Amino acid sequence: MPVETLVPPPITETLLTREQITDRVDELGQQIAQDYEGKELVIVGILTGSYIFVADLTRAINEHGKTDFEVDFMGISSYGFGTESSRQPRITKDLEIDVSGKHVLVAEDMVDTGYSFKTLLKMLSVRSAKSVKTCVLLSKPDRREVEVPIDYLGFEISDKWVEGYGLDTNQMGRGNPKIVVREAT
Ligand code: IMP
Ligand code: MG
Repeated sequence: MPVETLVPPPITETLLTREQITDRVDELGQQIAQDYEGKELVIVGILTGSYIFVADLTRAINEHGKTDFEVDFMGISSYGFGTESSRQPRITKDLEIDVSGKHVLVAEDMVDTGYSFKTLLKMLSVRSAKSVKTCVLLSKPDRREVEVPIDYLGFEISDKWVEGYGLDTNQMGRGNPKIVVREAT
């Protein structure tokens, strides 16, 4: 039997241009550089979706004068194949860096229902970090099912499926420098 190819629905609009994203990430970087001045900081990116955000955010923080921070990644998978949260996130990669006694800033691409982020924050809370704060590029507050703290937020967006800037639709579309909307299936 032939393998069925899933054709994604069309891209309907550009939600955020490259310039809008760059400007906002720069502002976040400036704020973070100020707030963590003189503090031992570890930035923890959440794979896979945050890889571009982390790349830009860390350079923005650096450009705003804070250069002494570590970067590590944790992997979490919440969707598998499709656009509906499984509500049972799975840890796919753990930290390499020991964060005990250090300030942790978790960088996440998107908070949707909140389940993935909540699971992650719970896992991090037992690592004896000095503090754990969160920096989220996109949040869909209308979709929230569990409350999670967001200390630094890029943009609040409505309940639409988006891709680009690291975010995928069935693993595709991550390289788009803009954030675009895909029509609901
Ligand atoms: P949550 O557990 O429902 O909050 O799932 C959040 C994760 O799902 C995010 O970190 C994203 O990786 C993914 N996600 C949620 N909404 C979207 C979207 O609109 N586009 C692409 N990925 C999304
Ligand atoms: Mg994610």
